[in-house]
Amino acid sequence: MLSVLPVLKHIKEKYSNASSQRMTQPTGSSPLQYVLKENLLRGKDILGIADLSPEEILLIIETAQHLKNNKFDETQTLFGKGQTLVMLFEKPSLRTRVTFEAGMTQLGGHAIYMEGQLGVREPVSDVSKNLDRWVDGIMARTFAHETLEVLAANAKIPVINGLSDLEHPCQALADFQTILEHKGKLKGLQLAFIGDGNNVANSLLLLAAKVGVDFAIGCPKGFEPCPTIWQKALDAAQMSGAKLTITNDPDEAALNADVVYTDVWVSMGQESDEHEKVLAFKDYQVNSKTLDHAKQDCIFMHCLPAHRGEEVEGAVIDGPHSVVYDQAENRLHAQKAILALVL
Ligand code: CP
Ligand code: NVA
Repeated sequence: MLSVLPVLKHIKEKYSNASSQRMTQPTGSSPLQYVLKENLLRGKDILGIADLSPEEILLIIETAQHLKNNKFDETQTLFGKGQTLVMLFEKPSLRTRVTFEAGMTQLGGHAIYMEGQLGVREPVSDVSKNLDRWVDGIMARTFAHETLEVLAANAKIPVINGLSDLEHPCQALADFQTILEHKGKLKGLQLAFIGDGNNVANSLLLLAAKVGVDFAIGCPKGFEPCPTIWQKALDAAQMSGAKLTITNDPDEAALNADVVYTDVWVSMGQESDEHEKVLAFKDYQVNSKTLDHAKQDCIFMHCLPAHRGEEVEGAVIDGPHSVVYDQAENRLHAQKAILALVL
């Protein structure tokens, strides 16, 4: 794993014996207050993993782990001033909506949920300029990534990407927190993504490249990750030493993998392509034969929602290798870390 800031090492040592659901109050003052006061992420937009340095990624993951280990620590009520997050949703959500809202409540703040297409009733820039006068942050789930960029360009408050057509950074951060929990390290691991080179794949690819995790995607021709993201990942991999591979053979991608990951073949907004995509991906299901190519102690991951019998066999997602509900749980902790650091 990359070196972490000294203060995070301190957090790690102080709470290394804490269980994930500890009920007793920790004693003394929380070093988290210090980290959150001093950190350099305050006010930063989190539009994608592309915007984050390896050190910032590790700061978020370590802070998330601290928050998780100290779930009942009263010092987690960090927002003494009644901070407010507006959550704009152009698409449905279970995990993102609930974890952001619960996260704000647990930190002592408040979240406002709004759904509907942005830019229809009024320009996106006007939405942003209004919100900027009232609240402390915006989390948005959009169809076009450009919508997030317009929101960010027109507000001084931080804008957080809750999924766009290009990236799903909060998912990837929670996922790498989960990988670290299960494997005890990040650097040197091998992550196989079997399926569509979509928003989730793009964010995982970038995050892997930045922290030194080898990344192999097994996808049909024409469904590779975004070329701009791929180039950014190659640049980051030069620094971290990560090996990045694209193959059309899902078994080759899974070979010796520590982590096997998949996502739906048809993302939200792509429903009109369903027939074409289901045909293209029919040989890309993650099933027990796929896992036979991976390491014996591999973990299976999926961002959810999942379609059992399509991109993943039921026996895999509900089987012993699966950590999908740990991933879902960590959405809460990773996003609380992001909120506490940027708002
Ligand atoms: N993984 C994820 O973002 O789930 P939701 O679509 O339910 O938010
Ligand atoms: N790729 C999927 C992820 C859902 C969390 C989508 O965009 O619909």
